[in-house]
Formats: sequence, C-alpha cells, structure tokens
Amino acid sequence: MNTATQVSPTTRAAAISASGLRKSYGDKVVLDGIDLRIPEGTIFALLGPNGAGKTTTVEILSTLITADSGQARIAGHDVTSDADSVRRRIGVTGQFAAVDGLLTAEENLLLMADLHHLSKREGRRRAAELLERFELTEAARKNVATFSGGMRRKLDLAMTLVGRPRIIFLDEPTTGLDPRSRRVMWELIRNLVTDQGVTIFLTTQYLDEADQLADRIAVLDHGKLVAEGTADELKRTIPGGHVRLRFADEAHLATAAGFFGTAARDDESLTLRIPGDGTLADLRAVLDVLDSTGIQAESLTVHTPDLDDVFLTLTGRQNAPTHPNPQKESAR
Ligand SMILES: Nc1ncnc2c1ncn2[C@@H]1O[C@H](COP(=O)(O)OP(=O)(O)OP(=O)(O)O)[C@@H](O)[C@H]1O
Ligand SMILES: [Mg+2]
Repeated sequence: MNTATQVSPTTRAAAISASGLRKSYGDKVVLDGIDLRIPEGTIFALLGPNGAGKTTTVEILSTLITADSGQARIAGHDVTSDADSVRRRIGVTGQFAAVDGLLTAEENLLLMADLHHLSKREGRRRAAELLERFELTEAARKNVATFSGGMRRKLDLAMTLVGRPRIIFLDEPTTGLDPRSRRVMWELIRNLVTDQGVTIFLTTQYLDEADQLADRIAVLDHGKLVAEGTADELKRTIPGGHVRLRFADEAHLATAAGFFGTAARDDESLTLRIPGDGTLADLRAVLDVLDSTGIQAESLTVHTPDLDDVFLTLTGRQNAPTHPNPQKESAR
C-alpha cells in the first residue's frame, strides 16, 4: 500500500493530465488553455476567485461536461472517448452537497452501494465502516435534513468513497464549515492519501487549506493558470513581504512617505507599507530611516509573504483591473 509514498512525486505516473483545455459559454471564455499534470498519490489544489472556472475544470475532468478543445486523461483514459473507464475510477464530491435530505445517512450510503453494484451484505459492511470512520455512527439512522453543514459534508465525502475511487475530485470541500470541522475534514482527506495512496484534486478559495493540504497548487484566473508550484514556491514568486508602519496623523504619514520612496501609502489607515523580504536586515533599514529622520511611528508590524499575498498579487484583486498579472513586472 505504501509503495506510492516511497517514490518521488515527480517520477510517479500521472493520475490526471490535461493539455490545452478550453471552454466557453457563449462569448464568455471560462478556460483558455489549461495544462495539468498531477502525479498519483498526491493532493493538488486549484485556487481561484469566484467564477474563475474551478467547478468547470472539475466538471470537464470528471466527464460531467466536455471541453470545447484540448485533451484530458484520468488514469490514462481519455475523458471524452473513454468516459466510462474514467467514471469507474473517480469519485466526485460536488460544490453543493448531493446527499438526499429525506433519507438517513445510512440509507444514503446504501443507495450509493447499490449504484456501485455492491451486494447487500458488502454494502452494509461498507456503509458501517464509513459511518464509523467519519464519526457518523450515532447519527446513522437520523434524517440527513437534520444534519449540520459539517455532517452533510462528511457524509457527502463518505458517499464518494463507497465505490473506493482511486482519484477523487473535491469541489470546495470545506466551504461553510467551522474551523474544527474543517480540520476534521482535512484529516480525513490527508488520510486518504497517506493510507490508501488516493489522488486528490481539490478546489478551494481558502489559501490556508491549500497550504495545509496540497503538494502542489495552481492559481486559476481569467481562464489561465497564472502560477503553479508548491506553497513555498508560490510564496517565493511574489514579493509579499513588507514592514507596515502606522502613524498618529496625516502630517507624520506625509513626512515619512517622503523618506520611503517605494512604500505604498494608505491615508485612511494612516499606514505605509514598505516592501521587502521580511528579514531582520530589512527591518533594521526601516528603523534606521526612522531614527535618522526622527519620525515617530505609532506601530510597526513585519509581514512575511503568505499564500494570501500570492493570491491577491496573482489575481490582481489588490491592484487595478488593468493589472491582471503583476507577477511578470514584479519579478525580482
Ligand atoms: N452552464 C453554464 N452556462 C453558462 N455559464 C456558465 C455555466 N457554468 C458556468 N458558467 C460560467 O463560467 C464561469 C466559471 O464558473 P465556475 O462555476 O467554473 O467558477 P468557480 O471558479 O467554480 O466559481 P465559485 O468559486 O463561485 O464556485 C462563471 O462566469 C459562470 O457564470
Ligand atoms: Mg465552483
């Protein structure tokens, strides 16, 4: 079982691969040429703002819709010409819970077992095993309509697992969950990979989720992947580090702004954001300027880049809309 974890991810076979995927709805170009290669037994996170095309990508890769052009293979099978083989190998947990509220948790799982042609006995065994693993045994005979959002999400994932898929698509698996339930879900997802060598393709808007879970992350924006890499690699691509100084009033802010040429000034919060790499030397340089000029700052905070900076920089949400890919201009 553990053989997958002993092989370096880059040399593993691709569980999911795609090249030149394009999809438009009317005039709207949703995907404008997407290339992917996701090795077996790894977690891949697709990040992107609302409407970026994350769900569309999942739908194409899981054969729910077809791309206008391009190719995609799941475990070596083409999603268009060999869709049945693909469907046999994948599990999909959609963005909106697919559980039937009028049934109990157990009934939902047994229904899935039927769909997967498990025998009655095997179906019951599988349902019981999943209810236990997801800590839903106590609630097994309750109508799902009475479940909390977190319980529904867990049941949704449990239903996906009934057929023992080797490749699982999770579209925003923790949206709307409280911090504890998110952690529980993360643990369940991680275990799937470490215990069973499953491959996970997840979409998320939570950068910490991608940071926590994913081996590799890609950021989707304006129909293209604007960055791809490990969380650390992505953090290194952008200069998100800065020292933030807050001043007592506009006069102090204005004086200081004159001395820190490259700083971004925010008059509303009376702050200056001085770009840097968040190192001690960086901090010292800022303090030296304050000392030598005698400018008083109210507070100082040091910020090292996190995935939020990556996201905001790459998707241009912090910048003018005419500046969709600042990565190129800000490359060091
Ligand atoms: N069936 C459809 N018909 C027309 N437009 C569609 C259809 N499905 C998606 N779109 C459009 O495609 C774009 C991408 O949608 P998609 O659902 O893939 O985004 P997303 O990244 O999953 O967003 P969210 O974070 O909100 O879930 C959106 O502009 C959406 O309106
Ligand atoms: Mg979506």
